[in-house]
Amino acid sequence: MKGTDVMKTDLVTGAAGFIGAEIARELLKQGRQVVTIDNLSTGAEEHIPENVIFIKGDTFDKEVLEKLEKYNIENIYHIAGQSGGITSYDDPVYDMNSNIKSTLLLLDYAAEHKCQSFIYASSMAVYGDENQCPIIEETAIIKPNTFYGIGKMASENYMRIYAEQFGIKCTALRFCNIYGPGQNMENLRQGMVSIFMSQAIKNKHIHVMGSEKRFRDFVYIDDVVRACIMAADGKEKERFNVYSIATNRKTTVEELIRLIQKVMPFEVSVEYKGSTPGDQFGVYCSYELIKKNLGWTPKIDLQNGLAKMSGWALGDKQKGK
Ligand SMILES: NC(=O)c1ccc[n+]([C@@H]2O[C@H](COP(=O)([O-])OP(=O)(O)OC[C@H]3O[C@@H](n4cnc5c(N)ncnc54)[C@H](O)[C@@H]3O)[C@@H](O)[C@H]2O)c1
Repeated sequence: MKGTDVMKTDLVTGAAGFIGAEIARELLKQGRQVVTIDNLSTGAEEHIPENVIFIKGDTFDKEVLEKLEKYNIENIYHIAGQSGGITSYDDPVYDMNSNIKSTLLLLDYAAEHKCQSFIYASSMAVYGDENQCPIIEETAIIKPNTFYGIGKMASENYMRIYAEQFGIKCTALRFCNIYGPGQNMENLRQGMVSIFMSQAIKNKHIHVMGSEKRFRDFVYIDDVVRACIMAADGKEKERFNVYSIATNRKTTVEELIRLIQKVMPFEVSVEYKGSTPGDQFGVYCSYELIKKNLGWTPKIDLQNGLAKMSGWALGDKQKGK
C-alpha cells in the first residue's frame, strides 16, 4: 500500500553519516523529497542536509519503520549500518541487527509498498583475503573475515531472494574504501583516509597500526554518490545485481601516507606500530561490470581527491566540494 504523500520520495537511511548525507544532498538537488532514518550512533543530526525529513531511530525497529507509512517511497538507499570491521566485535548482536535485520525489514517494506529499487551499501569486506586482485564480482570467493563482512554478505543474500521471489529490483554496491569531504574526522576507528588525515592535521604525526604493505582501493565520495543514483535508475535485465565500487588501482598504506604528507601544508612524521586483527591485507577491485551494465567509471583519482579532502579538512570547506 502506498502512502498518502503524493510527492515522489526516496528513503536514504543513515543520512546523518558520511555517505548517506551526500546521497541525500544529491537527490534533493535533483528535486526529490528525501526521508532518512538514523539512530545517530556514529552520525550527527547537524550533518543531515537541510530539508531532509528526519526520523530518529534504529532501522531494525519495526515501530520506526511504521513512521514511513505516510510517504510515497520510490527508491530505498539502505546506507545506515554498523560500519566498521573492527567495531563489529564490540557488540556482534548489535552488528547483526544493524546490518542484517535492518536490511530484511526494509526489503519487506519495499516488497509491501512496491518500491522501485533497493540500493544497498555493501562492502569489499565480503571478499576476505583469498582472492587474486583485481577482484572480479562474478568469480570472487566470498569469505568475509569479520562479523561486519558476514552481515554484508547475509544482506546481499536476502536481497537476492527478494529480487528473485518478490520482484524487487535490488542492487548491492560493494564499496571499497570511500573517502572525501564530509567524512567523520573525529572517529578514529573508521575510515583509513580520515584516520590518517585527521592525525596528520591534529598531531603532525601519523601512527599506522599494521603493515605499510597492506593495500586498498580508494574511491572518492562523489563517484560513490553517482554510482548509487545510477544503480537506482539502472535498467538491467536482472532483478538482482552486485557491483564493486572501485577504481581498479592498488594503493599501499605507505603510498597513501606519502600522498597525505604531500597535501599537508606542514611536515608530517610517520610511525608504524601495532596491528589491527581481522583487517584484510590487500584488496583492489575491477569495476568492469558496473561500467558494462550502467556506464559508471570513477572520475576522481586519489591525488586530486586527497587535495579536495585536505582543503575541506583544513577548514576551507567550500573549496573541498
Ligand atoms: N566509508 C567506507 O569506506 C565504506 C566502505 C564500505 C562500506 N561502507 C558502508 O556504507 C555505509 C555508510 O558508511 P559511512 O562511511 O557513511 O558510515 P557512517 O558511520 O558515517 O554513517 C552511518 C550512518 O548510519 C547511522 N546508523 C548506523 N546504524 C544504524 C541503525 N541501526 N539504525 C539507524 N541508523 C544507523 C549512523 O548514525 C550514521 O549516521 C555503511 O553501511 C558502511 O558499512 C562504507
